[in-house]
Amino acid sequence: MSSVLPREENQPLSAIHEWEEDVLRRYPETDYTPHEKKKEAFRNYETPERSTVREFYRLNHMYQTVEFVLQKKQEFVPGKLRQMGIWEAMEYLNTLVDDSDPDTSLTQIQHLLQTSEAIRKDGHPRWFVLTGLVHDLGKILCLRGEPQWAVVGDTFPVGCAYSDKIVYPEFFALNPDTDEPEYQTLHGIYEPHCGLDNVHLSWGHDEYMYRVAKDYLPEEGLYMLRYHSFYAAHRERAYDHLMNEHDQEMFRWVRAFNPYDLYSKSDEPPNVEQLQPYYEDLIAEFFPDKIAW
Ligand SMILES: [Fe+2]
Ligand SMILES: [Fe+2]
Repeated sequence: MSSVLPREENQPLSAIHEWEEDVLRRYPETDYTPHEKKKEAFRNYETPERSTVREFYRLNHMYQTVEFVLQKKQEFVPGKLRQMGIWEAMEYLNTLVDDSDPDTSLTQIQHLLQTSEAIRKDGHPRWFVLTGLVHDLGKILCLRGEPQWAVVGDTFPVGCAYSDKIVYPEFFALNPDTDEPEYQTLHGIYEPHCGLDNVHLSWGHDEYMYRVAKDYLPEEGLYMLRYHSFYAAHRERAYDHLMNEHDQEMFRWVRAFNPYDLYSKSDEPPNVEQLQPYYEDLIAEFFPDKIAW
């Protein structure tokens, strides 16, 4: 599936952080009121940068089908790729060069460290800090030739009706699953309140990293990894009908994590060398030297 288009057409964003900047435009910090509905999403909707983001979502919504998701889940079983330590994976991810606006964009390592440092400063448990550090490592999928639309972007359930709370819902008209009646009822192929563990979300870095870290982090951290891009659920509450009580309980953690991901960016880049020893210790507390990717 990743070869359906020539490479350039598969990669509409000049850098993957363009997607995150767009999330920030949709969910500005000034509107952030956890557990309440935000006032004015979708402001700045038609800025020029949005055309690449729009194209990105056109591809994402068109190609993320039930079939595609199931195929990727089979393809990326951890252990098939390589063995790598967490810090090593951070350095590997950092080779993903962000080529737009080098003055204001952070490297991947810097984003991870800013997120984890902000969590640490607020006195959260060590597993929470570590979750912040590793949350985007699934983006190494980009380095394995996966198209941007199969790595980043807001995630959403496949196999059931698309919520109009998902960004650019009009592009779902291009998705072949739209023509499958059994995929287009409210619950689709799922039972009401079946729990998100039984629901297939669009494929990307969240699900992949969840699978990699599954045996090593507490469940609260795993929920953060797995659902941090599921804005339609954790910000819009548009999928309560598939979530069970346990999901709702765990989503308190997903919501607690989200502002650190979105709003921890500062102009002062973290000092990677200075922080490395602290984080090597923290990593060793939870992860073995090498894990399967
Ligand atoms: Fe992410
Ligand atoms: Fe992130």
